[in-house]
Parts: sequence; C-alpha cells; structure tokens
Amino acid sequence: MAFHPRKTRDYGCWLNYERLPKGLWQRYSGQFSTVSVRNAGGLAPAIEEELKRGLEGLLGQSPRLVEDLEAAAVTVCAPGDEADTGGEESFRLRVQEDQGQLKVSITSAGERGLLYGTFAFLRALQLGQIAGGFESADGPRTPLRLLNHWDNLDGSIERGYAGRSIFFQDNRLVEDLDRVRDYARLLASIGINGVVVNNVNVSREATELIGSKVGMVKTLAAIFRVYGIRLFLSINFASPLEFGLDTADPVNSQVQNWWKERAAKLYAEIPDLGGFLVKADSEHRPGPFTYGRTHVEGANMLAEALKPFGGVVIWRCFVYNCQQDWRDTKTDRARAAYDHFQPLDGRFADNAVLQIKNGPVDFQVREPVSPLFGGLERTNQILELQITQEYTGQQRHLCYLVPMWKEVLDFDTYARGPGSTVARIVTGSVFPMHWSGIAGVANVGSDPNWTGHTLAQANLYGYGRLAWDPGLPTEQITREWVVLTFGHEPAVVQTVEDLLLGSWETYENYTVPLGIGWMCNPGHHFGPSPEGYEFSRWGTYHRADCTAIGVDRSVKRGTGYAGQYRPENARLYESVQTCPEELLLFFHRIPYTHVLKSGKTLIQHIYDTHFEGVEQVEQMIEKWKQIEEKVDPETFAHVLQRLEEQLEHAREWCDVINTYFYRFTHIPDAQGRKIYP
Ligand code: GCU
Repeated sequence: MAFHPRKTRDYGCWLNYERLPKGLWQRYSGQFSTVSVRNAGGLAPAIEEELKRGLEGLLGQSPRLVEDLEAAAVTVCAPGDEADTGGEESFRLRVQEDQGQLKVSITSAGERGLLYGTFAFLRALQLGQIAGGFESADGPRTPLRLLNHWDNLDGSIERGYAGRSIFFQDNRLVEDLDRVRDYARLLASIGINGVVVNNVNVSREATELIGSKVGMVKTLAAIFRVYGIRLFLSINFASPLEFGLDTADPVNSQVQNWWKERAAKLYAEIPDLGGFLVKADSEHRPGPFTYGRTHVEGANMLAEALKPFGGVVIWRCFVYNCQQDWRDTKTDRARAAYDHFQPLDGRFADNAVLQIKNGPVDFQVREPVSPLFGGLERTNQILELQITQEYTGQQRHLCYLVPMWKEVLDFDTYARGPGSTVARIVTGSVFPMHWSGIAGVANVGSDPNWTGHTLAQANLYGYGRLAWDPGLPTEQITREWVVLTFGHEPAVVQTVEDLLLGSWETYENYTVPLGIGWMCNPGHHFGPSPEGYEFSRWGTYHRADCTAIGVDRSVKRGTGYAGQYRPENARLYESVQTCPEELLLFFHRIPYTHVLKSGKTLIQHIYDTHFEGVEQVEQMIEKWKQIEEKVDPETFAHVLQRLEEQLEHAREWCDVINTYFYRFTHIPDAQGRKIYP
C-alpha cells in the first residue's frame, strides 16, 4: 500500500494548528466565532480557508463566514489605510476588546497584505499575543523573497536531501498537485512571493518549459497564484540554438527578437510570471562569453524581452574558472565574482538583478561575506543563501543556519560609512534600487516531512522570516518556529531551541576549521576527505603541508582578495593580528604552532574543536532523549535516529581530520586523547 505522506504530523510543519494549551485555550475560547473577508480578490478562498483551519484547530470551533463586516469578530478587508506601511504586501493587524469580546481587524492596501496579515494573526494567536489593544503594522522589507528550486524535470533534485521533486517526475508534472498547493501555503505563511521551479543547470527537457511544455508552467503558476506567489523559470542562455537558431549571441537582432517573442508567448499564458533566473558562463553553462560579449549585454538582452510584461531577469554572480590547475597559485577563485561583476556596476537594466552568493566561494560552513556587497552601488542585487544543506550535513546532520545567515546580514560593508550592513543593502536602504531582496536554494522534497530531517524545517521557516525582515533577531525566529511546531511545553521549547542554536557551531567544530572549507568528498560533498579537492580543477585549495595551512589572500603577499573589501574590512582581513580568527585560514597561511588568542596553538585548536564537536553531538542526543515523553513518538524516533547517525559521522570527521594533521605535524594532542596515527 502506498504510504500517504499527509498522515504524518511532521507534514504539517509549523501550520499544524494543534489545540492551544489550556491556559491560552481558556483565554480565547468562544472568541473569533465569525469571520468576514472583503476585497481579497483571488486570495479570498485561501484566506477564508486558513482562518477556518487555524481557528478550528487551535480552539476547536470553526468560525462562520459572514457578509457583514460590522458584525464579524475577525475582519479581513482591503483597501485599508496602510499607505504609510509600505504598500500592498503590508498589513495592519488590530485587536480591540469590547465587553470581553475581542474584535480583530486585518487591513491592507492589497490582497497579498491581507493574506500575510491572516497568517500573522494566527501566529500571534498561537504565541498568546492576541489581546485587546494589540496592534501590529508590518510588511516585507524586500520586494523579492524567492525560493530557488534545483529540481530537474526527471524528478531528481540537484543537491536535494529530502526525496524527489514535488513538482516533476519523468519529464511531466507529478500527479499529486495537492502537495504543491500545500507547499504554496507553507511558503505564503512566511511571506515568500516568488518561486523558481527548475534547476539553474537547465536540462534539455527543462528548456521546453519555455516551449512545448509551457502548459506545465501554467498549471504550477495557477497553484502558486492562489497564495500570492509568482513563478519564475531558470532558462538556458543558449536556448535559441535548441530552438533552431544558429547563434545565441545577445547582440544579434534575430536572437533578441527570438527572446522577445518567447517572452510574449509565455506572458500570454502566464501574465504574472515573475521572470527568468540565469546561470551563465558558470560551471560549463553557456553564456555571453561564448560570443565575446559581456554579462551586461547578456542580462540586458533578456531584461529587454521581459520589460513590457513587468518581468525581471535575475542573473547569478557565481562565475569563476572551474578549470583551474592546482599548480597555479596566482588564480584565486574567491576573487572571481567581484572581478567579473564589480566593473559592470551601473550598467545593468532596471529590471535586471544580480544574485550574489553569501560568500565568495560556495556555501561553505564558514566564509567571509562576498565583497560584492558594498562593491556594487548602482546595481539591483539580491543575496543568495543555501537552505539545502549541501555542505552542512545534507539534512542528515542538524545544522540550523539562521545564526549563520544573521552574521551575513549583520556584516557591515562600510559602503556608506558604518552601519551599511548587508541587511540594509538587500532591503534597498543603502543604495537606491528598483529590485532587492533574498533568494534561498530550497531544501524540500517528496519526503513525508518535506525536509528529510524534521528539524531542518526550521531552516525553511527561518529563511522566510529573514527574507521578510532581515532585522528579526535569531531568538525570536527560533522561538516562533519551535512553539508553532512543537507547542508550548517549556522543556520541549528549551531543548529544541538549545539543539538548534548550538548546531551550526557544533557542525563547524567537527568538520573544517577556521574558514578553510572544502575538506569534503568530491562530487556528493558528504563526509570528510581532507584532500578531496586539493588537486582538482575547482579552485578550492588549502595547500596544507607539514608546517602550515591556508591560502594567503592578503594584498601585500597573497592573492589580493582582501583588497576587494572597503578599507575598514580590507585592513582587518589583511593582517594575521586583526583578522577575525574564525576566518584565519581563509585569509592567511598559518603555521601549526601559531598561537591563537585563546593561547592555544593552531594544531591544538584543531584537535580541541574536533573532540568538542563530537562531545556536543553526544550531549545533543542526551538532551533530546530527555523530552521523549513530551513529543510526538514518530518525530522523536526520527530525530533520535538522525542524531545518532550524526554522532557516527561526527566521529568519522573528527578522526580523519585529526589524523590528517597529526600525520603532517607529529605534534601530539596536549590532552593525550586518542588520535589514530
Ligand atoms: C554548487 C553546487 C552545484 C550548483 C552550484 C550553483 O557548486 O555544488 O550543484 O550547481 O553550486 O550554485 O550553481
């Protein structure tokens, strides 16, 4: 018999709406019995359904839908007076109390604001915040809040760790499109407003999504539209060739016209299509370089085709030489994105947007922030984060990424003096931009719990909340997710929060030290392999020998990468003395006997963090076991199994890395712990 994923509790994620605990239930029982939704257009059914579902679940009584706004206990109505709060995605949520009866009003200038206000109300209710006098005026700080799916049409997912695609199988759409609707609902609840449904490495079959397979796009777009989400497509820059032209040269008028006609056809079918995402001249993808053209010429050609329809072209900055010779010590992959794109600043079209990975290399557990942030002043730009845990344990390890993303967002670029943080850049408040925002590479798949590891749902939730408001504190996001997912039981809340909040550091401890990155197995990127990438073509070298490790990226003696930052940061990174220690091996070549601020030598630091990392996973297991009686048995068993697997892998990492360095240095562990010779 086929297993029906919806039967599991974890399928509901943070929208399970389980009955409120007694105290809260008593407070709200008998309230919110009538609901009225007005002028919500195409989103009205989703709003009404959510209120019914939410209130029924939380309070055990389904509200009645009524026409009369005055008479309803919960009113959701546009247009409201949100002019001051930032437009049609913003809302105002007000609660008044009259003789013990609470009256909730959600208003917005637009339909999407009403939907977001509805989710905000249900969230606040679960957190026990709804009371007479409660008022919240909220809205997204960014216009583009995107998920990038790396889904292939055959149903596989590049870097997917939670099953198969929820959109595609065997080059068609999946049968269970209800699941796509559930997904759209989850995304809308955290404010996502755009989804790229296919892989940036566009397959031949996926090229057809802008041709004979456009019907698939139309079907998906219609499902997402119900939740106010626009669909985007990854496109192949060389598509004209696949459709019979003999060139894809962006300055060729035939090519330009071809894209214009293609866009017109697409928009005739899907009038609210968001636009295109492009990986060009990167990792063997075609691009303008093939024709001796620039990225400006490539991106602007597509931007022009999309412009009449209000679409945007999102152009990725992940461009570097992936054919490097390891013997070549002059080329530095970390420099590539800045070297390619900074000189083009100010030349991209109004509806072209650069998408920049958070770090200069590739989603390692620790990287400095890309110097393109702060380096581009006159270019629309969005931050790209990786929610799928390619290099951070592949959803078999717990690694909660919100603390890492917060560090990225809080990074001060100094582009316009102190306070020019990445968060302020991607919200368009440092430089004026037409488009700004955040994109995240999705971590979901067909697994019953969506994300493989149930606790990895927190990464999706946290991502959405940060895309909505990069200023939200980690603690708030974490608390929200834990309470919405696990309820209010204090021991559970405390334990799950502890597990999440410590997990990134723990993962870093037992894997790769001080920003060096890349000690993983080539190809699939899981598990330790200290020299897995050392003699490869990918430009990712640590160059460890028996005296030192690391790449000198200073201006004075090294590759000059440190000089791509504004002077305040460039100075900091330039010298071993001032470089933040967690990035020491990213920026400098350091002898194993170098003494760190802790007073320990580098080699001792490596040993200590690796042993510590393993102990921390042991403690995570102990903590989790203590709440066995208080969480759903299936969830408990699943998380326990993942943590036990994590412990086994952490031990493997610890032993391999420690032995690797011991063999080079022959320096024993000061504490005499077991290191395999
Ligand atoms: C990483 C990842 C690839 C992916 C690429 C990208 O290198 O391993 O699978 O295609 O990033 O971001 O395009």
